[in-house]
Amino acid sequence: MLKTIVPPIKSQGIKTKLVPWINDIVLSSGASLHCRWIEPFFGTGVVGLNSPIEGSHIVGDTNPHIINFYRSIQSGEITPLSMRQYLEKESRLLSESTDNGYAHFRMVRDRFNVEHNPYDFIFLSRAGFNGLMRFNRKGDWNVPFCKKKNRFTPAYITKICNQIKATSRIINQKDWYFNNVSFIETIKQAEKGDIIYCDPPYYGRSTDYYNGWTEKDEIALYEALSRTPAYFILSTWHHNDFRNNEMIELLWNRFNITTKDHFYHNGGNLENRHSVVEAIVFNFEQQERLAIRDTNQLELFAEI
Ligand SMILES: C[S@@+](CC[C@H](N)C(=O)[O-])C[C@H]1O[C@@H](n2cnc3c(N)ncnc32)[C@H](O)[C@@H]1O
Repeated sequence: MLKTIVPPIKSQGIKTKLVPWINDIVLSSGASLHCRWIEPFFGTGVVGLNSPIEGSHIVGDTNPHIINFYRSIQSGEITPLSMRQYLEKESRLLSESTDNGYAHFRMVRDRFNVEHNPYDFIFLSRAGFNGLMRFNRKGDWNVPFCKKKNRFTPAYITKICNQIKATSRIINQKDWYFNNVSFIETIKQAEKGDIIYCDPPYYGRSTDYYNGWTEKDEIALYEALSRTPAYFILSTWHHNDFRNNEMIELLWNRFNITTKDHFYHNGGNLENRHSVVEAIVFNFEQQERLAIRDTNQLELFAEI
């Protein structure tokens, strides 16, 4: 199986482990590999970066820091080398900082909350507690320090820089468009033959400035996806040990649904740290296809 490319941003809802499952469903849609990939809830970007689709990628997110970070890689403002220089400097300051690293962490956090610098965004994403990404009601970074003043070891810096390199290679070899817009705007762009992949905040499970998600939002998403002429794939949760996702029964049951057990390790609360049955909802009949993956992650495949 191909290795999944892990992006430089960390977040509690990251779909890294589910990428092969999602890609199998993408490949079974019958869509051309040269179609357009439309992703309205980009998050860390792990799904889009690993998508087998070779056409344009049109992605959106309401979190401006995510979009700004990807645009900075695309424009060449952030490179593996510039990130290395930044992290080496911050790593030194963090390890020399008083208060066991806290003083420097607080300084970077406060600077980020004023300047919104994409380098500081990566620092906070990597030095925050448990890989969480969370913003308060004012839109300020709101995750405490991981309490490791030697967080940025040389090996860890190299790992992040390699992730920048891999990400940059992908988003510079195809047409990628990064938009800081709400999902409705992104979905509007989809045409027949395109694939839309949606991973919205999970209804009833997410709370954070950029991840508020109400029943009204879920219904608006349902209506937009019901109208689209494109193929769509939606990730959501089906049930956990505590309760069912009522939106499945209310809305999504009229489409095709497949499920899989999954464990989220770093949710913000106890319920989110338990195993959950994930669902993928999609609007097409699956074609049986054989995927042959070459080393460049280009997917060459033929009907069985
Ligand atoms: C569950 S996360 C996506 C995770 C992503 N698939 C990954 O693996 O990293 C949901 C994303 O949707 C974004 N978001 C929340 N509300 C949105 C909205 N109304 N329109 C567009 N994006 C939104 C959040 O900022 C967050 O990045």
